[in-house]
Amino acid sequence: MLHVLRHPLAAHALTQLRAVDTPPAAFRAFAHQVGLLLALESTRDLPLRPHTVHTPLEPHLGDVLAQGLVVVPILRAGLGLVQPYLDLFPEVSVGYVGLERDHQSAVARSYYCKLPPLAGRRVLCVDPMLATGGSAVQALDLLREQGAQDLALVVLVAAPEGVAAVAARHPKVPVFTAALDRELNARKYILPGLGDFGDRLYGT
Ligand code: PRP
Ligand code: URA
Repeated sequence: MLHVLRHPLAAHALTQLRAVDTPPAAFRAFAHQVGLLLALESTRDLPLRPHTVHTPLEPHLGDVLAQGLVVVPILRAGLGLVQPYLDLFPEVSVGYVGLERDHQSAVARSYYCKLPPLAGRRVLCVDPMLATGGSAVQALDLLREQGAQDLALVVLVAAPEGVAAVAARHPKVPVFTAALDRELNARKYILPGLGDFGDRLYGT
């Protein structure tokens, strides 16, 4: 269920995101670029329904999107992946799940949750970094409890440990990522990774 994005623009932008000297403004722009590609990839199989329109010349039986879409960023860094979905799917609903890793234990603590109705809609949980997988598993648990059936996880960089944790708990949830990195370090940061995404996105 792991989908690794293959696109030259994704590779280019990801390299800039990894570079330690990329300033916040450029970091946000490159994150948006990769986010657009991930938004396209994660919605490739959205269902369609037939819809007739009239071209200037004749009637035409075409297709339109058949299913509502919900994007749920894991605060705070996940906010960096919301705008690409808004750009491509202006009708998308947005829910929020607030989780923060403790700096010592790397265990995520929940501090906020606000969700629209999830049943019958494609729910995309977005967070740039999948490290231990603790945050993603907590968020997916919550979304399932709140009625999400058609659920996917979208990240920018994944560690093998995080992919395994999500697969163990949510084996049917597809994971879309722009990169599968090597491993976690002792402080549970992704290697080579790009550092603390939230800090770099917001200049904190
Ligand atoms: C980061 C990241 C993920 C989490 C990944 O958030 O955005 O949510 O860590 O780590 P995990 O897979 O080990 O749970 P962080 O907790 O640093 O909070 P922030 O988004 O507020 O910066
Ligand atoms: N969160 C981040 O922002 N980066 C990592 O490498 C791991 C967790």
